[in-house]
Amino acid sequence: ILKNLVVAIDGPAGAGKSTVAQLAAKQLGYTYIDTGAMYRAVAWKTLQQGQEVTDELILEVVKNIDVNLQYADGKTKVTVDGTDVSAAIRTPEVSGIVSQVAALGPVRVKMVDLQRKMAERGGVLMDGRDIATNVLPNADVKIFLTASIEERAQRRWKELQQKGYDMTLEKLQQDIAARDKADSEREISPLVQAEDATLLDTTGLSIDEVVARILSMCQ
Ligand code: CDP
Ligand code: CDP
Repeated sequence: ILKNLVVAIDGPAGAGKSTVAQLAAKQLGYTYIDTGAMYRAVAWKTLQQGQEVTDELILEVVKNIDVNLQYADGKTKVTVDGTDVSAAIRTPEVSGIVSQVAALGPVRVKMVDLQRKMAERGGVLMDGRDIATNVLPNADVKIFLTASIEERAQRRWKELQQKGYDMTLEKLQQDIAARDKADSEREISPLVQAEDATLLDTTGLSIDEVVARILSMCQ
C-alpha cells in the first residue's frame, strides 16, 4: 500500500470525480473527501429558509451552519446541524443555486478551512474545483478530470432518470454548462486546471479505466 498521499482531483460537473475518487479511495484504503457536498449543504440550508435566495441570506446561513462530512464503508454522509442531508443535497434545486453559494468569499473561507483540517493526516483523495490550485497546493498527485459536455450531461441524465426525475437531456446540458461557466468565471478560486496537474479526459473511457489510470499515477 502507498504511503499516505494527498491526491487532488478537480474538474467540471459530471466528469466522474466522485465516482472514480471513491473507487480509488477504496483500493488505496484512503479517505474520500467530497468538497462539492459541503457547498451543496450550505445551498440546501439556504433553500430551507423558504425565502428568496440572496447573497445576504446565504451569508446569514453560513454564519451558523454546522456542516459535517463523514466517510465510512465507502459512503459519504453529510450532515447539516446534525440532520443527514446526504440525499437531499443532490436535487436539481440545490444544483441550481450552488454556484451562487460557492462564489461567496465567507462561504469558501469556512469550507476550505474544514477541508484542510480533514486532509491534515494524508491518505486522502479530495475532489472539487479548487483543490489543486487553492485548498491543497502541495498535494502529491494533482488530476484535472474532464469529458465532453455531451458525455457529462448524458451521464448525469442517466442518474436523474434512475432517481425518477423528469428533465430533458437538453435542459440538463444547459444547466451543467451554466454551472461550469459560473464556476470557471467567478473571482475567488475559479475552476481552472492547475499548472502542475495532469489532464485526464474521460470521454469514452469506462469507470474502471479511469480508476486504473489514477492508481497508476499514484504509484
Ligand atoms: O457533482 P457535481 O459536479 O455536480 O458538483 P459538486 O462537485 O457537488 O459541486 C457543486 C458545486 O459546488 C460546484 O458547481 C461549485 O459551484 C461548488 N464547488 C466549489 O466551488 N468548489 C469546490 N471545491 C467544490 C464544489
Ligand atoms: O463528481 P462528478 O460531478 O465529476 O461526477 P460523478 O458525480 O462521479 O458522476 C459521473 C457519472 O458518470 C456517474 O453516474 C458515473 O457512473 C458515470 N461515469 C463516470 O463517472 N466515469 C466514466 N468514465 C463513465 C461514466
